[in-house]
Amino acid sequence: MRKIKIFDTTLRDGEQSPGCSMNLSEKIVLAKQLEKLGVDIIEAGFAISSPMDFKSVQAIAQAAPECTIASLARCNKNDIDTAWEAVKDAKKPRIHVFIATSEVHMKYKLRMTPEQVLQAITDMVGYAKSKCPDIEFSAEDASRSDREFLSQAFSNAIAAGANTINVPDTVGYSTPQEMGELINYLREHVAGIENVDISVHCHNDLGMGTANSLACVKAGATQVECTVNGIGERAGNASLEEIVMALRTRRDFYDADTNINTREIYKSSRLLSNITGVPIAPTKAIVGANAFAHEAGIHQHGMITNAQTYEIMNPDEIGIPHRALVLGKHSGKHALRERLESMGYEIPDDELEDIFTRFKKLADEKKTVTSSDLEALTLHRSRIIRPESGESSVPFCQLVSHSITSGSGVPKISYVQIRRSDTNKLMDGVESGAGPLDAAFKVINKMLGVEARLEDFSIRSVTEGEDSIGEAVVKISSASSGEMYTGSGISTDIVEASLAAYIAGINKMFDEERAVVSD
Ligand code: KIV
Ligand code: ZN
Repeated sequence: MRKIKIFDTTLRDGEQSPGCSMNLSEKIVLAKQLEKLGVDIIEAGFAISSPMDFKSVQAIAQAAPECTIASLARCNKNDIDTAWEAVKDAKKPRIHVFIATSEVHMKYKLRMTPEQVLQAITDMVGYAKSKCPDIEFSAEDASRSDREFLSQAFSNAIAAGANTINVPDTVGYSTPQEMGELINYLREHVAGIENVDISVHCHNDLGMGTANSLACVKAGATQVECTVNGIGERAGNASLEEIVMALRTRRDFYDADTNINTREIYKSSRLLSNITGVPIAPTKAIVGANAFAHEAGIHQHGMITNAQTYEIMNPDEIGIPHRALVLGKHSGKHALRERLESMGYEIPDDELEDIFTRFKKLADEKKTVTSSDLEALTLHRSRIIRPESGESSVPFCQLVSHSITSGSGVPKISYVQIRRSDTNKLMDGVESGAGPLDAAFKVINKMLGVEARLEDFSIRSVTEGEDSIGEAVVKISSASSGEMYTGSGISTDIVEASLAAYIAGINKMFDEERAVVSD
């Protein structure tokens, strides 16, 4: 059976998409999870694009030593030098060089002739190879490129030392049949192709990202580029979980599998959604809330008789936790650790202490504590760990207490008390606003002297029942830099969850602005 390499670009192509940006700590938490998931290659960023991206690629190279760590680079020496600086201390570094090969891109974007593009490929792939033993070359917009020219571009890249050639459907234009035929054509016409990995990178503009990638695997591709939850530019990239589970479930058809530990899929998906604040659609294949829910009576009957009647995958295989009641208010730390471990979370002692305190508080507030509750507590806890040092970071600002007055025909007034970690000072204030949250957010801005604008706000219940945990997600923008920050908070009290989310966003803003100053 063929082994297909999984090249995860959640931290590069995925992170580039609006609303999905992550700070350094979050990227490291995610990179460690991707390593646990078993991806072969992590594209950690585009090192030249910003000092923060450079720093992230360097840090990820240390955080996930089991994976090959790639940085993207355009076909020029400065990009390649910077990419190499960022990945060179990785155990398995890769430089990913790209240039566009379609007529429209060469003419209007690059303003280069086809001959110049071919020369740049030879020169720059060769230059990258002189630094790094593992080179991937991508022909951007390959699927809309002239096939003969594309074959020449890939032949040049291989002659100059590329170990992997990547065939992107950059604008998600192709159909599965066309992509399969393109791979077949390249296998016949590219010199030396039998000695390198053939990779595909499909966007999802027409909803065919996964289907196109799988058609390429069927035609002989040996690497697939994808993202967790399919996040990415515009309509996103091919989704990792769909590709992996399609190959696993239909091994009979594809005769191919991956190195992915599928039991880590659900956790990876939830972690990413938690970090970015981008929810997963209930109907999303593999990881959506409804992916394994059976509502219709006839389906339920079939499921009870034999799960195979309506279920082609076992949710256990994907690591989806059982929703049953797991712990009560009298459960001890040992039981909590056991439950978390059975859900795939290995928790160090100091972290367990903190989760246990939160669990006890929750058990007092809720009648039942389910695995979804525990998952929410754990995911939120993992967000405040500084993975670079393994130590808990003290957030810049913490919510201490709050109270609101609201109702029809009365002023909406909020009182908020916070603690600043730099001065260890308690601060409080009162404001009125269009609603209690508007008032509370105003108080926080005023106390901290920040100009943060609320861009988006959502709240949803994480678990079932009237006493379920609410998860609030806010997106705020900094008036000074225009940058967007996402914060999330959980509580059985939705006002508290909203304030915690707002403060989490503010903390990220302060973190980032402090990091820029220290650069
Ligand atoms: O979509 C694309 O073409 C890319 C390349 C840089 C690989 O992301
Ligand atoms: Zn892309």
